This record gives sequence, C-alpha cells and structure tokens, in this order.
Amino acid sequence: MAIRILFVCLGNICRSPAAEGVFRRLADEAGLTDSFEIDSAGTGSWHIGDTADRRMRAAARRRGIELTSLARQVTREDFNRFDWILAMDASNLHHLQAMAPRGARAQVRLFRDFDPEAPGTDVPDPYFGEADGFDEVLDIVTRTARALLDEIVPEGRRP
Ligand code: 4NP
Repeated sequence: MAIRILFVCLGNICRSPAAEGVFRRLADEAGLTDSFEIDSAGTGSWHIGDTADRRMRAAARRRGIELTSLARQVTREDFNRFDWILAMDASNLHHLQAMAPRGARAQVRLFRDFDPEAPGTDVPDPYFGEADGFDEVLDIVTRTARALLDEIVPEGRRP
C-alpha cells in the first residue's frame, strides 16, 4: 500500500506544488515511485484550476523539475484519504486543524517539523516577495523533503 502525502499551502500555486514536485523527484531517485501517492492542495480557493505560479515553475525547471499540478482546495475527504497532510506554515496548519473531521486517518503536521536545520518554522510565502524567494523555497523544501522521505519510507523499502 502506497503512503499518501498531501502538501498544503494557501494558494496551491507556489509552496505546496514545489513540495509535491520535489518530493516526487526524491522518491523517484530513491526508487520509491510506487511507495507514495503525492498531491498538493490549498486552503484558499482563489487559484482553483491554475497551474503553479510561473516564477515557481521557472525556478523548479532550473533544477530540472517540472511542476505540473493544477491548484485545488483541500477538502474534508482529504483527511481520510491521506496518511500525512503537511502544512507549509502555521496559518495553514491552524486552518487544517480547524477543518479536520473527528477521528481522521491523516496525521496533520507542519512540513518543517521535519527540517533538520530549522524545525517547526514556516516555509516563507514567496508570492508577494522578491524573485529570490522562489529559490529560497526550493532550498528549504528540498532539504526538508529529503528528511521527510528518510523518516517515512516504508519498512523494508529503505534503499
Ligand atoms: P502559496 O502562495 O500559498 O505558496 O501558493 C500564495 C499564492 C497566492 C496567494 C497567496 C499565497 N494569493 O493571495 O493569491
């Protein structure tokens, strides 16, 4: 059974598509493609149906990663479909905790709980910031996704 992971940010056009694309790449490189189902969603509804932000896609493409996700909003069903729901910042986490159905399957956590360098912090929102914010997000997301993969790789599948 694949482990199902949902990355969540506000708009689902910058941070969580980056986390989805980077984690998928790392799982593929580790030969663990079939061990995971990976998706992303936003707490907000403004960008439903949109591709990832052009600046985020360009920054990821420079690292050889194509971001192909289309934005969607997180639903209550997600809490029983996914094993892990990982929030990009504390505000997203609070939103998720408020909407989680009782007894849900998913473990809802802050993504950067897994960051070895700055655990428990937010992935900064690059949307209204400077151009280098997108590369900063990719640096954070890559380091954290690597640690996450190490932590949750299924028993017996460790490379
Ligand atoms: P994201 O960034 O949450 O990383 O996708 C944002 C994208 C859009 C908006 C806010 C944050 N917005 O307000 O439209």
